[in-house]
This record gives sequence, C-alpha cells and structure tokens, in this order.
Amino acid sequence: MPRPPDPAGCLSALSAVFDKATLLAGADVPARNLHDTSYLPQVRPLAVLRPATPEGVAQALRICGAHGVAVVPQGGLTGLAGGGHPIAGAVMISLERLSGIEEIDDAACTMTVRAGTPLEVIQRAADAAGFFYPLDLGARGSCQIGGNLGTNAGGNRVIRYGMARESVLGLEYALPDGTLVTSLNKMIKNNAGYDLKQLFIGSEGTLGIITRAVLRLQPKPGCVNAALCGLGSYADVVALLGAARKGLGPMLSAFEVMWPDYWHEATQTVGVRSPLSGQHAFYVLIEAQGLSEAVDGPRFQTWIEGQFEAGRVEDAAISQSLGDIAAFWATRDACSEFGSLLGPHVAFDIGLPVARMDDFVRACRDALNAGIPDALSVYYGHIGDSNLHLIALSRATTVQPMAEIAGIVYATVRDFGGSVSAEHGIGLLKKPYLSYSRTPEELALMRRIKAALDPLNILNPGKIFDMETPA
Ligand code: LAC
Ligand code: ZN
Repeated sequence: MPRPPDPAGCLSALSAVFDKATLLAGADVPARNLHDTSYLPQVRPLAVLRPATPEGVAQALRICGAHGVAVVPQGGLTGLAGGGHPIAGAVMISLERLSGIEEIDDAACTMTVRAGTPLEVIQRAADAAGFFYPLDLGARGSCQIGGNLGTNAGGNRVIRYGMARESVLGLEYALPDGTLVTSLNKMIKNNAGYDLKQLFIGSEGTLGIITRAVLRLQPKPGCVNAALCGLGSYADVVALLGAARKGLGPMLSAFEVMWPDYWHEATQTVGVRSPLSGQHAFYVLIEAQGLSEAVDGPRFQTWIEGQFEAGRVEDAAISQSLGDIAAFWATRDACSEFGSLLGPHVAFDIGLPVARMDDFVRACRDALNAGIPDALSVYYGHIGDSNLHLIALSRATTVQPMAEIAGIVYATVRDFGGSVSAEHGIGLLKKPYLSYSRTPEELALMRRIKAALDPLNILNPGKIFDMETPA
C-alpha cells in the first residue's frame, strides 16, 4: 500500500547517510535540475541527491521508498519528452558523480562504464583504444549513457548498428526497493533465462535506475565517406535508400533526409553553409564506413556516380576529407540550435512507414497550418530507420499552444499507423498519446510489470503512463 509521504523524515534519513555535497535540498537545488529539455514549466523538487556509487543509488531508493517519497533519475537532462523532468516533492537522483570508465576489455571488445559518463567521453575513449562506440546523437556532449540507455536512444547510426539496446551486453541497476542487481555480462551469447536488462533499457527510469553498463564496442572503421545529395522527389529518396542498402551493403552507416523547410532554417536561421549550390526538393546525407580508403573510397564514388546516371540524384557533394564529412553533418546537427534561435517549440520523433513519410509530411503540415496560428513546422530525420523528426511552433505567440500542436500531429500519426515515439521515449509529453501506438493489452502488461517491480509507485511515477487505468 502506498504510504503517506514523510519528506522531513526522508531528508533527515538521507542526510544521516550522505554528506552536504551529495544532498542538496530546498533552495540549494541547482537551477539546472529544475527542468529537462522538454519546455515543460520548471518544477522545484524536494532535493537533488548525487550519489557517487551504485550502492549509494540503491541505498537512496531504499530510504525514499521507506518514507513514501518519489524518486526521479536525472542524467544529462537533454531528454525532449520529460522523462527526467522533476516531480514536486520528489528526490532527484542525479547520476552526474557516478561517472567514468571502469575498464576496456580488448579481447571481449567491451567497455564498462558508470551511468553518469557523458556519451562523448565514451566515444572518445573507444576511439583512443582503437574501437568505435556507434551510438551517436546531437546531445553527445551533455547527455549521459545512463539516460541514453534508460530511453533506448536512437540517433544517427541506427541503420547500421541498431538502437542503444543493441550496444549493451551487461547492466547494473538499482530497484525501487533498494536491491542492487549487478549483471555485468560481457558475453555476446548468454541465454540463461530472461534477458532482464532489456526491461530497464527504454523504461525511462520507471522500473529501476541504471548504475553501470557493459557496452559492446565495434571495430574502428578504416575509412568514412559521405555525400550530401540534392534530390527532386520523394520517390527518388526511397529509390536512393534502396540503392544504398544494396550497393553499399553493411557499409551504409547513415541515411538522413532533410525537407526544404528544414534546409531553409538550417542554412538561413542557423547559418550553416550549404555544401550544394542549388535548391532541391530533398537533401540526403549518406555516410558509409568502410575498411580501407584505397578500396572503399573509389567504390563509394562509383556508387554515387551510378545514382547520377540512374537519374535519382540531381546534385551531390562528395567528401574529400574528414572536414567535408563534418560540414555535411553540420547541416543535420543544425537542429540542435533550433531551441535557442526559434524559441520554445514541440519536438517530435515519429515512427512511420518509409513509403508514406512524405504523404504524412503534407498532411501534417496542412493540419498544423489549418489549426495553429502562423504555424511553422520543419521536417527531417533518420528516414532509413523509419524515423521522422519535426519541430512545430506558432509564430503568432510566445506562449506556445503545446497541447494543440501535439494533438494535431499525433492524430495524424494515428491516421498513418505510425508510432508516437521512434527514439526519444514517452516521458510526460507523449503520455496522453501512448494508446495511439500500443494496444490495451500491451498497456495493461506494462502496468503489471510496473506494479510488480515498483508496488509503491515511487520511481518516476506518472512517466510513460499513469498507474490508474483510464476509464
Ligand atoms: C536528432 C535528435 C533530436 O535526431 O533525435 O537530431
Ligand atoms: Zn533523432
């Protein structure tokens, strides 16, 4: 049975165990912990706790549960759906001090990391050791691996390496009752019973708090080639994707598409230099990771030339250097500046059948233009992964009609049989729409799992779904 919260007792029990640098309560809660990147209004929690050990995380959960106080895990606070957003009266457990790389195992091709380690630190350490950690996304400098795994992040190279969950071999997590489960497996094959880690990857901190992980490293690519292509129609985009899968095979490591409205904001508002001189109906960034430049460089060049000859590509810039590849990616990473330059907006990460994406874009844009005063919506994304991004806002107001925008977009997603979240998770923002993409049976099973692991509903309560079944 849920017990009435005893915040004063909880703080006093926490302060008996954790020092003043670890437990920041009341007015000492840092401003950065009051919100994530979802544009939800700031919330002041009871306290922020920053344990430096997995055992500390588990102990904090045990204390909070015993006092009926809710807990919200926080990582780099780069989430766009509200999963790490504070809850009033709750204790935030920030993983920022549980950071660092514990081991790189050359024979197993694994890296053991603490949950608070920034993604970019992991990428760099893998590179320095002669490996490659393939998970990559715009927030790489600030996001933390615990949050990446907690949300099963996607990002830029899913087409080749899969979502975050594909890169995890072992996991350690603290359960709501304070049990620490250490399962730092390094073996690729391990079918000994349930693969429990998968429950915690992508559950957005509602079932347990990830404290450490064993990541699977990949061989460092011997060479990388890329092209930024201008195309004349969406039919050509789909044809080019098919040709890339066939012609580049396992080398294909990214297939990112940008619609002209996105391209306008990236090149005009953000001011990224366009690698192409003309205007096109679609802009496609293709990246291929090969074994050797001597063989795979010319192979990539020949493949692109074949796409010209087949009439699928109107124009293309082909990389001659790593600087060119970075310049191509700058057009795609420009979206990370939209928040500061375009202001508050609603960000979407929709899953859709690849063939119907442009039809969706037209329907969605029309519906937003009809329902939102002076609407701006721009479209882009990981089309090779069936994942479309859009951001939308009203230029007529500074107080964004967030719920209206979301209602219009998700109703269109439902009409097209898509998913309301391809990679960012549900958090708070998409909670009202989860049933658009999951059946009543799936939702009931999610609640049964939550009730089994967190019977007191203290861990990130109200994220993803509410425990009360709606009438
Ligand atoms: C991206 C993030 C927003 O793909 O998912 O840019
Ligand atoms: Zn994305």
